[in-house]
Amino acid sequence: MESSLPDLEAILLVGGQGTRLRPLTLGTPKPLLPTAGVPFLAHQLARARSFGVRRIVFATSYKASMFEPVFGDGAALGLELVYMTEEEPLGTGGAIRNAAQGLTAGPADPVLVLNGDILSGHDIGDQVRRHVAREAAVTLHLTEVDDPTRFGCVPTDDEDRVTAFLEKTPTPVTNRINAGCYVFTRSVIDTIPAGEVVSVERQTFPGLIASGELVLGYPDRTYWLDVGTPAAFVRGSRDLVLGRLASPALPGPAGEFLTLPGARVSAEAKVTGGTAVGARAVVEAGASVAGSVLGDDCVIGEGASVTDSVVGRGAHVRSGTVLRDAVIGDRAVVGPGNELLAGSRVWPGVELPECAVRFSSDV
Ligand code: GTP
Repeated sequence: MESSLPDLEAILLVGGQGTRLRPLTLGTPKPLLPTAGVPFLAHQLARARSFGVRRIVFATSYKASMFEPVFGDGAALGLELVYMTEEEPLGTGGAIRNAAQGLTAGPADPVLVLNGDILSGHDIGDQVRRHVAREAAVTLHLTEVDDPTRFGCVPTDDEDRVTAFLEKTPTPVTNRINAGCYVFTRSVIDTIPAGEVVSVERQTFPGLIASGELVLGYPDRTYWLDVGTPAAFVRGSRDLVLGRLASPALPGPAGEFLTLPGARVSAEAKVTGGTAVGARAVVEAGASVAGSVLGDDCVIGEGASVTDSVVGRGAHVRSGTVLRDAVIGDRAVVGPGNELLAGSRVWPGVELPECAVRFSSDV
């Protein structure tokens, strides 16, 4: 059962370059990429608000000036938003320290810190209450993954005290990993060195453990997704459209697909699997689109097949082309009869001629 807290402050880390999501992040920072019809952060902001967060400091760096025009002072969202920019990226810890200049919280108050690229269904209110009750220095949301070899893992003792931060290894001791949502006691943030590049995962948290501070784990098994890769980004949008993760920011009812104003989907097209169709986008007859993100003003031509893919703003996918697990940059044109599978990425503005790329063994 979700529950809210009075007037909690938060820091939102949104300054990363999002290199794994290129070319999508060349023009737009990851937290602003359209996800289930709205900028990704809109889902996080709405969710944070539902738990009683009222004031959020954005820790910006990469493409910092793009955030304020989208979210402004936050009044429209029932929030107060403040923007703190690093001149040079300071890493996760340095960014938290820098953003703390914008907090009003006192030394003993809890402050929520969120990575700006996580979708999570966990009960933030319960995490904060656990932090306060145990008088922890930091309380980390921990999620369980099927394959922990891809992540550093975070073992805990039987009272949920974090005992170590372990690097990636083929033989992890636990499947619990850092889920990117922290509650800090404000005074602990003030111990992070100012103006320096600091990683919370590699420096701050291991340092607190070494000096005997209570670093508490908040293990949880609800919905969790790091949208850092194209495949995960598409999955996140799809899950929100399908309602697998409820979001107060979804601009319409959950269902098989979502269309934004001005989108035109032919009655002879098939759009399914949690696809988001951007504003003024066109899906022509005979096309089939499943589980994908279609940007504003893009065109999916007759008979094209688009599965688990991202098609950027103003891009054209011509007739009969097949996309699966592909990313098409903004304004790119994929000529007819192409086949782009398994992680293919087309850079913004590039034009691929007819039948230029095919994966089939018979070509
Ligand atoms: P990749 O380059 O693809 O790894 O993505 P990323 O740049 O977002 O890095 P990562 O996923 O490790 O970042 C986790 C969170 O911290 C994201 O929300 C980033 O926006 C944020 N972040 C990472 N580095 C910085 C930084 O130097 N400054 C600020 N303000 N935020 C950062």
